[in-house]
Amino acid sequence: ANLLLLHGPNLNLLGTREPQIYGATTLAQIDSDALAQCAAAGHQLETLQSNSEAELIGRIQAAAGKVDFIVINPAAFTHTSVALRDALAAVGIPFVEVHLSNPHAREEFRRHSYFSDLARGVVCGFGALSYTLAIQAAIQHIEQPQ
Ligand code: DQA
Repeated sequence: ANLLLLHGPNLNLLGTREPQIYGATTLAQIDSDALAQCAAAGHQLETLQSNSEAELIGRIQAAAGKVDFIVINPAAFTHTSVALRDALAAVGIPFVEVHLSNPHAREEFRRHSYFSDLARGVVCGFGALSYTLAIQAAIQHIEQPQ
């Protein structure tokens, strides 16, 4: 199957960005671990990080009919982007929402997500492990949809 891992704004800075909140793991490390995890299960993975809402929307639109499952950390767009939410709803591809930090344990404005009610599930608060858990859930969903 084909999986797509999307990372929103500022996640290119992982490793140096507020490491006390987001950890020391770089985005390159997260992506290479995710690629290995998917390959080990016999699946394909493409990854994209963008600081641009338009680029993320374009990638989601292009995934229609080609991608079986999306894992997305919308980053700050989690709390702001109806447009990104609408793109996921439009293509109808099942997705998991992932966060490194636990947004519920932070500022009030991070408690609302435009994605959670559409997501198959949400994984947050475990740093880079959040991605591993989200991809494991995606693979399980692909292999045994329920
Ligand atoms: C984040 C949480 C968001 O609130 C924040 O804007 C991010 C990263 C996370 O992975 O913990 O950029 O999505």
